[in-house]
Amino acid sequence: MNYEFIIANAQVGPYVASIQLNRPKELNALNLQLMGEIRHCLEIFDNDDSIRAIVIHGNERAFAAGADIKQMAGRTAVDMLKIDQFSTWDSIRKTKKPIIAAVSGFALGGGCELAMLCDMIVASETAQFGQPEINIGVMPGAGGTQRLTRAVGKARAMEMVLTGNFISAEEAREAGLINKVVPVELYLDEAIKLALKTAEKSPIAIQLAKESVLKAFDTGLQEGLFFERKNFYMLFATEDQKEGMNAFVEKRKPEFKNK
Ligand code: CAA
Repeated sequence: MNYEFIIANAQVGPYVASIQLNRPKELNALNLQLMGEIRHCLEIFDNDDSIRAIVIHGNERAFAAGADIKQMAGRTAVDMLKIDQFSTWDSIRKTKKPIIAAVSGFALGGGCELAMLCDMIVASETAQFGQPEINIGVMPGAGGTQRLTRAVGKARAMEMVLTGNFISAEEAREAGLINKVVPVELYLDEAIKLALKTAEKSPIAIQLAKESVLKAFDTGLQEGLFFERKNFYMLFATEDQKEGMNAFVEKRKPEFKNK
């Protein structure tokens, strides 16, 4: 896979792949091509049975400092509607396999929104999260007002969106935005470890479990509970369910086959 702005690695560990955002001089600003490359690569990884979890990361200085302001600056509203650049974000959201964001340095604007689109976030102590679009006369456009509010609550989301203030990794962890904060030299390894842990499980169970948790964002409680129950019952049609439960009863490690 030949990409200009990302580095794809189909195996950083057993069943775990990674995507590195690679525009370091621009602090990994997310231009259209970069987002298109992420989408393309995720589609390939999602359809590859030798991959069960994906880690997305930047470098120590920046996960991503937002959508590319230079690319957007001259656009009109009609251009924005026609290009509809954030539709790429929707396709990332549809990835069936778990995605873990490994964040160090800046995760701002679209960078924070991209991290929030992932299923879990591991951050280095140096990570900073923010939605500073208000400083450049706009507002979050790739899910920030919705996902951030659901993750950290109204008070903190309002402050971040209306003032552009950043929060530290530790504040983000306390607020429930991210899973873990570790020293900078460990953030990528820790994210890979988390990915490896999900990759040991039954891929079908993981897919339906991820889908069900995400449903909690999209629906009311009753509809979400119904969806969850249906997925739970459906897993009893899989060999992995039989293997997982029998292995427990027989006090051995299960061998999942994705069937
Ligand atoms: N778009 C385009 N270029 C960017 C960028 C962005 N979002 N963020 C940083 N860069 C570029 C800078 O222009 C600079 O390039 P040059 O060397 O060619 O001048 C380079 O990256 C390094 O950045 P700085 O010199 O500014 O580095 P710094 O350490 O002084 O500051 C920063 C770092 C605080 C992150 C600052 O770069 C900054 O404020 N960036 C913009 C953050 C932002 O507003 N993000 C939201 C974008 S809009 C959006 O994301 C909409 C949405 O909802 C999807």
